[in-house]
Amino acid sequence: MKTQVLPVNEQSITLAAQLLRQGDLVALPTETVYGIAADARNGQAVHKIFEAKGRPQDNPLIVHICGMEMLRGIVAEVPPRAEKLAAAFWPGPLTMVMPRGREVSEVTCAGLDTVGVRMPSHPVVQAVIRASGVAFAAPSANLSGKPSPTNAQDTLADMDGRLPLILDGGESAVGVESTVVSVVGEHPMLLRPGYVTKEQMEAVLGEEVLVSPAILEKLQEGEVARSPGMKYKHYAPKAQVTLLRGSFAAYRDYLAAHAEPGVWALCFDGEGAQLPVPSIEYGRNHDGVTQARHLFTALRDLDRQGARVVYARCPEQSGVSMAVYNRLIRAAAFRVVNL
Ligand code: TXA
Ligand code: MG
Repeated sequence: MKTQVLPVNEQSITLAAQLLRQGDLVALPTETVYGIAADARNGQAVHKIFEAKGRPQDNPLIVHICGMEMLRGIVAEVPPRAEKLAAAFWPGPLTMVMPRGREVSEVTCAGLDTVGVRMPSHPVVQAVIRASGVAFAAPSANLSGKPSPTNAQDTLADMDGRLPLILDGGESAVGVESTVVSVVGEHPMLLRPGYVTKEQMEAVLGEEVLVSPAILEKLQEGEVARSPGMKYKHYAPKAQVTLLRGSFAAYRDYLAAHAEPGVWALCFDGEGAQLPVPSIEYGRNHDGVTQARHLFTALRDLDRQGARVVYARCPEQSGVSMAVYNRLIRAAAFRVVNL
């Protein structure tokens, strides 16, 4: 299959809408990361997503809508907490897990009786949903296990020959995937941290949002992931990544002791020039927003540079940095050294 990369304009949006309506795949930009879209009601179409990504069949997809009226048929009910969170954060990078409606294909939800739904703020996704009339299932546009792509070139690198069209809408602003929160249980529960933070949701809901244990730590043998995606190896570059937790001075000393060819640093802005090994910077220290924006490109850049071993500066675990920590700790297969 030949993969076209087209700039966003009226013709390419029309083509995208046509492909989606006929059950084909389209990769497109969202404000979080690039996604691969297929009609969420059409099991055969959604099946193509799993094939293109090499994604395990038991990992459910998120359904994307562009207006509250589209929730009908997608969810069985809109819990009061979802109403509040939607009013505060939609359109935007928040996915809510709700009771599944009858129109969503089994394949989209991997057989679960819940469905993750989000209303993205990116104008291109909104235009494609409006033009096609299709609520689409869309995972991140990476091959399963790789870092999510935040631009059309990285999407092409993974998806060339696997789908007919990539819409090029520039860099995704947020840089990590949406926050996923479940509103079906007795308490709201964060299943994947993102740009919309636990603290922000708690302020809107006036109650605690529980944190799924799988977010910050490795699941124990026999423990069940509430969000199936959390159990898989993720975001992994080819290099072996280790997080180093501690001061910059301790980080620099550690690198000096471990410097050899193939060793790279993944550090904060302005630090690279002071290190004894080559480095890639991924955002400002104490600033989750810039770290989120650059993390996935930085991981892909390390591969392009041929890094073999990567020592990464450790982000904080609150606010938007919780999302960065969550992705990086998986890229590092949970290897952390306390300096
Ligand atoms: O920002 C995003 O959410 C991007 C863009 C393209 O919108 N999409 C994305 O999709 O990140 P994906 O498939 O890469 O991640 C979906 C995550 C997975 O961890 C999955 O397990 C979880 O959401 N998820 C989806 N439906 C769920 C459900 N019903 N219950 C629990 N977790 C669910
Ligand atoms: Mg993904």
